[in-house]
Parts: sequence; C-alpha cells; structure tokens
Amino acid sequence: MLISKLQYRVIFIAAILGLIALGLLYRSYPDVPYRFAHGYGTSEPNDGSATEEKPAAQKSWLYAGPKAQDKAVIMARIHTEDVLWAYEHLSDWKLGIYHMDNETENGLHPPRNKGREAMAYLSFIIDHYENLPAYMVFVHPHLKGWPEAWHTDSDDHDQVKSIQSLRLEYLDKHGYANMRCIHDPGCPAEIQVDRQDDHRTAEHAMREAWPYMFGGNYSDIPKKIAQPCCSQFAISKAQTLERPKSDYELYQKWLLETPHDDATSGRVFEYLWQVIFGQGAVYCPSLRQCWCEQFGRC
Ligand SMILES: *[C@@H]1O[C@H](CO)[C@@H](O)[C@H](O)[C@H]1NC(C)=O
Ligand SMILES: *[C@@H]1O[C@H](CO)[C@@H](O)[C@H](O)[C@H]1NC(C)=O
Repeated sequence: MLISKLQYRVIFIAAILGLIALGLLYRSYPDVPYRFAHGYGTSEPNDGSATEEKPAAQKSWLYAGPKAQDKAVIMARIHTEDVLWAYEHLSDWKLGIYHMDNETENGLHPPRNKGREAMAYLSFIIDHYENLPAYMVFVHPHLKGWPEAWHTDSDDHDQVKSIQSLRLEYLDKHGYANMRCIHDPGCPAEIQVDRQDDHRTAEHAMREAWPYMFGGNYSDIPKKIAQPCCSQFAISKAQTLERPKSDYELYQKWLLETPHDDATSGRVFEYLWQVIFGQGAVYCPSLRQCWCEQFGRC
C-alpha cells in the first residue's frame, strides 16, 4: 500500500506526540520504591549488609532519597490513595508510607488495618523507637484542594506548603505542633466525658480509653479534652522519647483490642495526641499565634 506524503506526515507527527506524551507520563512518576524497583533508595537503619533488600519485610524500612535529612513524613495510605506527590515534592524528607490494606506493596505495614491513621502513627513510633528521626510529621495522604484536603489549613489546603513551612525551631522548643491551626472542629471542648449524647461515640470510648492508657479511673479524666481536629501533627524526637516505648505499645494494644469501630477509635486518638506528647488535655493556641510561630505566617 502506498502512503501519501500527507499520511506520512500525520503518522510522523502522531509518533512524535506519542513520544512526548510518554515522556510526560514517565516524568510524573518518579522512581518510587513501592511501585517499581525493589530496594530502590536506602533502608533505615542502614547497616550496609543487605544489598538485595526486601523493604516490605523490614519493619523499620523508611524511604530516603539522596537529599533526605534527619526528618520524616509519615502517612497511612489505602490502596486507592496516591502518594507519589510526596516522593516528588518532599525530597528533603524521609518517607514512611504505611500501606494499610496491601501487604505486598514495598514499604511499611501496620500489624492490622484497624483504628485508621492512629495505627500507622503508633506503629511508626514503636518500630523506630530506637532510631527515630529528629523531626516527624504525621499527615494524611491528600496533596491539596477542597474538599479532600480541607483539614489542612495552608493556602489551597496544600500539604506540601504546610509541611515545608513548618518551623523546626518551633518543634525544638515545644516538642509538638498540630498541623492545623483553625480551631473548628476540635477546640475549645470537643470531648466532654460527662456529656450524655449517644451520637458522640468517641466521647463514650474515651471513658474507658483514658484510664486504660493513663491510669486512674473515670473521675480522673479531664472534663474537657480538645485540640484542632484531624490527626495531623508534628513531633520532635526528644518529645517522643519523653515516654517509654511501652507506653506506645499500650496505646496500640488498646487500638488492636477495642471493640469500637475505626471511626470511633481513630477519633479517640485524634484528641489524645496532644496529651501523649506533653501538651495537656486542652491544646488550643490562638490562630494567629499558631500560624505565626509554627508556620511563619505572620
Ligand atoms: C497491591 O500491591 C501490589 C504490589 O505493588 C500491586 O501490584 C497491586 O495492584 C496492589 N493491589 C491493590 C488492590 O492496589
Ligand atoms: C477512683 O475514683 C474514686 C472517686 O470516685 C477515688 O476515690 C479513687 O481514689 C480512684 N481510684 C484510683 C485508682 O484512681
């Protein structure tokens, strides 16, 4: 069959466009350990022994690109969520990605997919307790935009902006920072254990969770427990080590054994991170102070 000059040109241009499209596609998927090469990147701790490492089998495995510093972003991911943006835009951070519902993905895995992100966060601290990064940021795997990332309160709810603007000096000084500054929902008094409201299941669960985790009994639970919502926060290594590893193991045990559903048990922790990391029961710094001191938005 003869191909006319015009057809030849069309085919030629289509081929070029195809190559460009492929190039763009490839560019948007950087070398990512969990999707591609086994053992890409480095393992942590790196004792130099394993060259053919199998990250999924190593509890302490953390992704560290060549520019990564002594700080880590930890996320809980279910298989429908895309976290490639983190590999692309957070190259100065190590990444601890917990694959909550896929045991074959390279990366980190919780003992069970129970209690939502709280299980991943506690697992990270327990599994890395002897070798924690100096700074840790625990966040959700949404990059940006409304409504999916509404709980992140940087411009455009952008997780990268939020993480990159976090002032590490603030963490050095205070040990803990809620990544959300806006009070609603959460402050000033989200959990009130004396309130009788059947819809507030986390409040009911707190009545047994608090004594289990911190000792004492019902009358020892603070009347108000509060912080801005949503279980996204940062901590320093020094603050984390204020508690023995056995405390974190106890909290995780509660999460593993509780009969409450995941929405409830996850929410119990949403209002306990500030307690666990030394800030007291009510942690509601003013919006202005939080934006300015934590994020340099003055
Ligand atoms: C689980 O991970 C494997 C390995 O990366 C992948 O091939 C598979 O598609 C994943 N399953 C789901 C349901 O995403
Ligand atoms: C439990 O609460 C009661 C008051 O209701 C108090 O007298 C008692 O000391 C508490 N026990 C413990 C172990 O904290």
